[in-house]
Amino acid sequence: LLKTKFTDLVGCEFPIQQAGIGGIATPSLASAVANAGALGMLGLGGIQDDPQWVERWLVETKNLTKKKFGANFIPAETFLTDLSVIRDSVELASKIANVVEFFYRKPDPSLVELVHKGGALASWQVGSKEESIAAADAGCDFIIAQGVEAGGHVRGRVGLVTILSEVLDSVSSTIPVLAAGGIGSGRAMAAALSAGASGVRVGTRFVAAEECPAHPDYVKALIESKAEDTVLTETFSYGWPNAPHRVLRSCVEAAQSFKGDVVGRTKAYGSEEWYAVQRFESLAIAKETEGAIAAMPHWAGESVSYVRRVQPAADIVKELSSEAEMILNNTHLRSSGY
Ligand SMILES: Cc1cc2nc3c(=O)[nH]c(=O)nc-3n(C[C@H](O)[C@H](O)[C@H](O)COP(=O)(O)O)c2cc1C
Repeated sequence: LLKTKFTDLVGCEFPIQQAGIGGIATPSLASAVANAGALGMLGLGGIQDDPQWVERWLVETKNLTKKKFGANFIPAETFLTDLSVIRDSVELASKIANVVEFFYRKPDPSLVELVHKGGALASWQVGSKEESIAAADAGCDFIIAQGVEAGGHVRGRVGLVTILSEVLDSVSSTIPVLAAGGIGSGRAMAAALSAGASGVRVGTRFVAAEECPAHPDYVKALIESKAEDTVLTETFSYGWPNAPHRVLRSCVEAAQSFKGDVVGRTKAYGSEEWYAVQRFESLAIAKETEGAIAAMPHWAGESVSYVRRVQPAADIVKELSSEAEMILNNTHLRSSGY
């Protein structure tokens, strides 16, 4: 089996982390991934300043799995100036989840300390060599290197192979480094592991998991798209400015030609409260979302080429890991001409 420093550290079976896809990485998805033997993650970004809500998601997940799962926070500098608003939620998460991680802020030792105090492992998704050194200095237990191929918000500015090499060369070899961005196949997973990654972080593929409450029109668009249909843009900056993101080009065009300020309405998972979705708003298109779905952000990484059907999360984990294992076992045959 694919045992790595990451699987040893976290205690999961496969070196795969499901990305914390904010809003739609709900207890159903995180627990399904965890039950499949990978690291399932809750995407808490949209509710992170509401500890009671965060606790509900955490407890619900804990009731659905006995395996390891994590919690993802987005303390982005551009919309969260005061870290104290998420401290209670981070503290709770650290006591209930096994991993607590952060994205889109310079690594912060006080958050890492808080996570360790609660008893969880701390990690940070980074987009540069400098950020990875800061994450290691802050005391993170593992680090995720994100390449520009990634779906959703993108911190990385260069390709995955480049950033992964730079991060691996910059931090102690005792710290597991995961690779994120464009990994949709076992072949891509094998490439990352061969290059020295201790695991992969996968986002876009899990949007099409049966247990993910993404809107069916969004999932259909992913299934019909290829890597070249994605674009890195700052179009969907309402609510989260100065943060490039990768989406399907079609939704950029639809949002730009939409007439009016409000494109629809939605409610967050676990809430009965509807709110209006603004044009160019950064949000996850959930099953409940109504309106001009095509003009809302269709987050997608270059890995979208490998989103081919809706399938159980366990099948995604199995497909990626068994293909990667087969390729890694046969690499010597390939390289000697077989
Ligand atoms: C739909 C979607 C939502 C995302 N939301 C988050 C998030 O809430 N927090 C986070 O840390 N990363 C988020 N990301 C980025 C992922 O962490 C990861 O870097 C990315 O999915 C990797 O590329 P891939 O989509 O090609 O697998 C999101 C990605 C996608 C596709």
